[in-house]
Formats: sequence, structure tokens, C-alpha cells
Amino acid sequence: MRTTESVEEVRELVAAARRDSRRIGCVPTMGALHRGHTNLIRSAVEDCQLVVVTLFVNSPQFDDPDDFHRYPRPLEDDLATCQELGVDVVFAPDDQTVYPPGGQTTIDVGPLGQIFEGHHRPDHFLGVATVVVKLLNITTPDVAYFGHKDFQQQLVIRRLCRDLHLPVEIVTCPTVRDPDGLALSSRNVLLASDQRIVATSLFRALERAEAGLNNGEGDLQAIRRKMRDELESTPGLDVDYATIVDAGTLEETDEVTKSMVAIVAGSVGGVRLIDNLPLNTESAPRP
Ligand code: PAF
Repeated sequence: MRTTESVEEVRELVAAARRDSRRIGCVPTMGALHRGHTNLIRSAVEDCQLVVVTLFVNSPQFDDPDDFHRYPRPLEDDLATCQELGVDVVFAPDDQTVYPPGGQTTIDVGPLGQIFEGHHRPDHFLGVATVVVKLLNITTPDVAYFGHKDFQQQLVIRRLCRDLHLPVEIVTCPTVRDPDGLALSSRNVLLASDQRIVATSLFRALERAEAGLNNGEGDLQAIRRKMRDELESTPGLDVDYATIVDAGTLEETDEVTKSMVAIVAGSVGGVRLIDNLPLNTESAPRP
């Protein structure tokens, strides 16, 4: 496994693999790798002959400086995980490499980046879209892997690849959960044990949405109220949103469609958490 901070070195390794007609996969991450990430990496290793994992904590996508500073950065553990999983190249650049002094260009994905996460975290998707375009331009993969847990993020990335004609296939891998339902997130290590219990309410709200639809309830407003009741009755949880949306557009429709997803977000002790649940097969992660 090669670990590098250098754009030129990544480009050379990728160019050599491309000359050998190897399929190139990229797994962009901010490190603090958990089982959600290892699933992405395993998929990449299975599908591709050269796998590049990027480790970069991207400050512009953090709206809260405290969140950025306390974001976990266990570099040695992450490198060991990548090595164990058979990653070929780890690209772990510093800030100056990704954002050379004087750089002014950003990527704005428009309205899709301004709702839900974008509403609660202004400029978050500007930061995500800009760094993802940079990382895809540097690693030039055939395919890139993202987690379904960041549901809006993967939609934003699919949209920007389409809009900007980026020749990369986007694969979304399913959310991984702990036995209590909590979706794996790099931020979970910041939760004290009592806060962790509070956080499981997010998954229960999603289950309420699923149960409502499975029971044939057609009143989406009533189901949304039940989701919010679950969260608002949990002391210690600050709710940002809890709703059911169209899985392609994130619009809150009143009609039950074949492609819907329940989405929730909130904070526990200042740690922001998001989760979602596809409510039928058409909104499940695409292979
Ligand atoms: O999902 C993440 O870890 C980050 O948002 C990403 C896609 C690596 C961009 O920094």
C-alpha cells in the first residue's frame, strides 16, 4: 500500500493502472474509519483493480469550528485498516494541497444543496461538492463509493457528476448499524454512553415511519407527526428535522409514492447526527 500526500504521485499511480486497463475505484473519506467505511472499501476492492482511499478532514464543509476541531483523526488506525483491507493507495493530503493558496473556485449545486442539511448547515454542500470534485479530479476513478447514510450527500454528488459531465460511476452502499439501531458515524465516538442511548431515538423515529407505511397508513402528515413525537419526547435530543421525502428530489409530498425515504437529523450534547431509512425498494441504495 502506498500512502501519499502528493497529487502528482496519485496521478502517476492511477495513470500506470489505467495503462494496464485496470478498473480504478476511489473511496473518499474524512478518516475515522468505521464499519460503514470498511463496507465501502470492501466493495471497491471487490470491484476494482486499483483502490484509492482518500483521508481528508475538509474544513469548508463544517459549519461549526468546534465540530471540525473535535472531529476524530486516528490516522495510524485508519492506515492499518486500509492496509488490512487491501487498499492500494491512500491519499492523505494536507490543507494546502487540496486548497492551494489563492484558490477561489467553489462548486454550488443549487437548490438541492440548500434544503435539509444545507438549510441547517449553510455552505455544507458547497464544501462537500467542491472537495469531491477536487478529489475525483485528482484520483480520476472509474467508480467512486459513498455511504447511503449521507443520503442527501450522495444525491448531491450524483447531481454534480451529471451536471458537470464527470465520467465517474457513483455507487452508494447501505448504512451499517449497531445492534441498538444507531447508524455508524465517525461522530459516535464523541457520545457519552447516556447520550448514545438518547441517539437511538433517531432510528426509532425512522422505524415509526416504516411501520406506518407497512400498516397501510396513507396520511403522510400523520406519520411525520409520529416521527417528530418520538424525537421530541426524547430528553436530550435537539431535533432539526424528521420527515418523509421523495428519494430522488427530497420533496415532501403528501402522496405515497414508490420511491420515498424517511430522514431525520438532530443533535445530542452538541454532536450532530443524521440518519435515513428507504421506505421501499426503489429508494434503496443503487448497486
Ligand atoms: O462523507 C464524507 O466523509 C465526506 O463528506 C466526503 C464525501 C469525504 C467529503 O469530504
